[in-house]
Amino acid sequence: AATSSPISSALSHARSENGYTEIDWDKLGFGLTPTDYMYVMKCSRDEEFTEGQLIPYGNIELSPAACVLNYGQGLFEGLKAMRRENGKLVLFRADQNALRMRIGAERVCMPSPSVDQFIDAVKQTALANKRWIPPPGKGSLYLRPLLLGTGAVLGVAPAPEYTFLIYASPVRNYFKEGNAALNLYVEDQFDRASRGGAGGVKSITNYAPGLKPLERAKKNGYSDVLYLDSESGKYIEEVSTCNIFVVKDSIISTPPTKGTILPGVTRKSIVEIALENGFKVEERQIAVEELLEADEAFCTGTAVVMVPVGSVTYKGKRVDYQATNANSMCKRLMSLYSGIQNGLIEDKKGWII
Ligand code: COI
Repeated sequence: AATSSPISSALSHARSENGYTEIDWDKLGFGLTPTDYMYVMKCSRDEEFTEGQLIPYGNIELSPAACVLNYGQGLFEGLKAMRRENGKLVLFRADQNALRMRIGAERVCMPSPSVDQFIDAVKQTALANKRWIPPPGKGSLYLRPLLLGTGAVLGVAPAPEYTFLIYASPVRNYFKEGNAALNLYVEDQFDRASRGGAGGVKSITNYAPGLKPLERAKKNGYSDVLYLDSESGKYIEEVSTCNIFVVKDSIISTPPTKGTILPGVTRKSIVEIALENGFKVEERQIAVEELLEADEAFCTGTAVVMVPVGSVTYKGKRVDYQATNANSMCKRLMSLYSGIQNGLIEDKKGWII
């Protein structure tokens, strides 16, 4: 149910003098709108990344034997640049994406940019494409860092060369439902991740196997798929593109990120914000039955931001939540979270760049 047409329909545009490109921001979904520049930095296996550069956005050339094409040696990240009412351009917790990429790189045997190199590259990419950062309230510029094993191999081995690349696209709502509540299908046939696998890092290989369950769920009218743990099939893990929280008697719970769940930056921020604001938060295994009996559930992610869950269907049984009232935990936490991003709430922890 993602609003991901291959090329965004908002693209017919004109340059304007007021800082941002004049496109029909109201038509923006989560489709690709190509922007002006991308950042590229390369290194070989025995080196460290040193210096990259901005080049015009466009296709890249790869050997047919590139490790990323043959064996999936690749990671991606996602973060957003936003335009505030006062004109300031901001990034949110880019260091967390940098650290997550470093952990993922170690898991799939790649060199990775340092945290400072990562943040500097993200800043350069955002600024070079700043005319594509939407006006306040109309979306953000999604930045997509990639770390790819681009060197050629034939046998299974780490690539001899690596490319760190960042491209950008203005985006708004991830789901076609906008911010409306999602109807989730609890997937009990396909698993997303297993113990000892790569589910806890942002490996590109985690996503294509989810296409079939996602397509099937969408065809049956659901917004997305909620995966269960692969060992027992009893506990909820995550949705294809976002983490999940449940609320019962005002206690906020979310499954722990112990290797099979992607440690989302939004997830982590919501946990921290909730704790600071005096809410009780538990990171623990959550049985599907608990989800079905919860007062409320919501999803978090960089692309998704925060969206309430409207219903969950498990083994033919559908449960609906009264999730969308103004007093919901999702709405309360969302206003604290977005307040820090848009500058209405003080950024006490230095999350804003
Ligand atoms: C993000 O939230 O940035 C993600 O990585 C989700 C993506 C698969 C759309």
